[in-house]
Amino acid sequence: MPKPIRLSAFLLYLFLFPVISLAGPHQAAIASAHPLATAAGFEILEQGGNAFDAAIAVSATLAVVEPSGSGLGGGGFWLLKRAKDGKEIIVDGREKAPLAAHEDMYLDAQGNPITQLSLDGARAAGIPGLPAALAHLAKKYGRLPLLKSLGPAIRHSESGFEVGDSYLTAVKAREKALQAYPASAEIFLDQNATPKPGFRLVQKDLAATLRRLGGSGHAGFYRGETAAKLVDAVLKADGIWTREDLEKYKIVERRPMLGEYRGIRIVSTPPPSSGGVVLLEALNILAAYDLESVDTITRKHLIIEALRRAYRDRDLYMGDPDFIKNPVNRLTSQDYAAGLRVAIRTDRTLPSENLSDAASPALQGDNTSHFSIIDRQGNQVAATLSINQSFGSAFVAEGTGVLLNDEMDDFAVSPGKPNSYGLVGGNANKIEPGKRMLSSMTPTFLQTKDRIAILGTPGGSRIISMVLLAVLDFAEGHGPQSWVSIGRFHHQYLPDVVEYEPGAFGAEAIRGLEKLGHKLKATAKPYGDMQAILWDKANGSLEAASDPRGEGLAIPILAKKPVL
Ligand code: DON
Repeated sequence: MPKPIRLSAFLLYLFLFPVISLAGPHQAAIASAHPLATAAGFEILEQGGNAFDAAIAVSATLAVVEPSGSGLGGGGFWLLKRAKDGKEIIVDGREKAPLAAHEDMYLDAQGNPITQLSLDGARAAGIPGLPAALAHLAKKYGRLPLLKSLGPAIRHSESGFEVGDSYLTAVKAREKALQAYPASAEIFLDQNATPKPGFRLVQKDLAATLRRLGGSGHAGFYRGETAAKLVDAVLKADGIWTREDLEKYKIVERRPMLGEYRGIRIVSTPPPSSGGVVLLEALNILAAYDLESVDTITRKHLIIEALRRAYRDRDLYMGDPDFIKNPVNRLTSQDYAAGLRVAIRTDRTLPSENLSDAASPALQGDNTSHFSIIDRQGNQVAATLSINQSFGSAFVAEGTGVLLNDEMDDFAVSPGKPNSYGLVGGNANKIEPGKRMLSSMTPTFLQTKDRIAILGTPGGSRIISMVLLAVLDFAEGHGPQSWVSIGRFHHQYLPDVVEYEPGAFGAEAIRGLEKLGHKLKATAKPYGDMQAILWDKANGSLEAASDPRGEGLAIPILAKKPVL
C-alpha cells in the first residue's frame, strides 16, 4: 500500500478515535430482574469487561438466582450494539426441536393435544441455546475469558444465596411439578416442600457445569461430561434428546428488524421471534393517528385494534426463518399498514372472528427474564432469556444442576389450537426436527438524535404489547421509570379479549371501551418485569429502571476503574 494512504488512514484513525471513545456515556448502567445479577454485571465491568462480558455475567447469574425464569437449560435473544463500529446484531440462542421430534409428538390418538406433555418433564424440552450464546459472546464480542465472566454465577451457585419472596412464590406455584422429579425437588425444595423464608439455595452441580462451560467453551456443555449426563437423564425420563442434537446446536447471528416510528429508529428481534415484526407492524398502523391528541378511550381503542391485526399475522405467517419464508417485508411495510387501517373504525371494534373464525382461551405465565446494559464506551445489550413457563419443564437433568426448558410448547403443537399463552399458530410454526419454535421475546433499542433506550420484558405473548406501550411512552417524551410503571393492557387477536392489569383502566375507560364493542378482562395480577435504560446524549444523563412489579435492580453508576 502506498505510504500516503497509510498516513491518511492513520490521521483518520487519530481523528476518529477521540470521537469514538468520547461517544459513550462515560458511565455504565445495568437493569436486571435480580439485584445479584445486576451486581454481577458491574463486577465484571470493574474487572475490565465490556457490556458483552457483563451480559454473560448477568445471564449466567440469572440462571442461578432466578431459576424460575431462565437458565443454562433454556435460550434467548441477545440484541447487541458494538460502539466501535456501530454493528447491531442479534445473537439467536433460541432452543431447537430435537432431531427425533415430530408433528404429533404431543397429540393423543384422536389428534388432541396432551397439554401436560409439552409443558412438564424431559419431553417438553428443546435443545438449549443459552450456553452456546454465552460462549459465542465471550469469543466474538467480549474482552475477558468466559470462565472469568461466569465467576459471579459460579460463586453464587457454589456458596448459595438467600432466596427472596419471588422465588418462594414461584416454587409454591410449581411445587407439584418439581416434586415429580427427584433431582429438581432436591435442589429447589426443602424436604420436598416449598422452602420457608431464609432458605439458602445451593447448586453445586450447576457450579460444576458452569465451570466446564467456562473452561472449554461451547464444547464444555455440548460435548463431554455435561452432554453425556444431559442425554442420559433425558432418555431415562422418556425424553428424545441425542448426543447429535447437542453436538449440532449452533447459535445464529441474525440482522435485527429495523423500523421507524415518528422519528424514532427501532431495532428489535427478527424471526424466530415474532417480537420485532409484530411491534413494527402495530407501530406502523398507529403512526397515522395523532395518539397524543385523541381522547384516552380512542387512544386505547386504536392501540387494541393495531395489536389485534399485528398478532393475527403472527399466528398466520410466522415461524423459524431457517424452515419457512416469513413475509417480514410485507408485514412491516407502510403500504400494508395503510391497508389494515382502512378497516379500523373509531366508533366500534371489529371482532377478531370477522378476520378469522378460530377462537381460543388464554392463560399466562409470568416468567422469563430481561436485562439491559450500556457500558462507558456505549456498547449496548438488550437480552430476553427464557425457559418458557415458571421453572420450565420442572425437570433437572441429574448430576448437572441444569433445569430444562419447556419451550416446545411455543410451537403450534396442534396447528389451529391455542398453546399455553392462548396463541394459535399455523403450519409456519408446526413442529419439525431441528426447528426453532416461534417466540415473542422483544429485546429492543430505540434511538433518536439525542436519546438511546434499551428495554424489554418477560411476559409470554404479552411481551410485545408491553414493549409497544413503552415505545409510545418514549415517543411522548417520558423516561424509563414511566415505561416500566405504566398500567398495561393487551390484545392478541385470539382470544378476542382485551386483558388489562388491575387498575390500568378506570371506570370511564371500561365503559367507553365496552361501548365500542370490546370484551374486557382484568388479569389476576399485574404482569411483566421490564428492565430499561435511557441515555440522553443532549444532557449527558443516564437513567435505569426496574419494573416495580418485580424484585429487580437498576443502577446507572460511574465505573470505578477506567476501562481501556
Ligand atoms: O419465547 C417466548 O415467547 C416465551 N417462551 C416467553 C415466555 C415468557 O415470557 C414467560 N413469561 N410469561
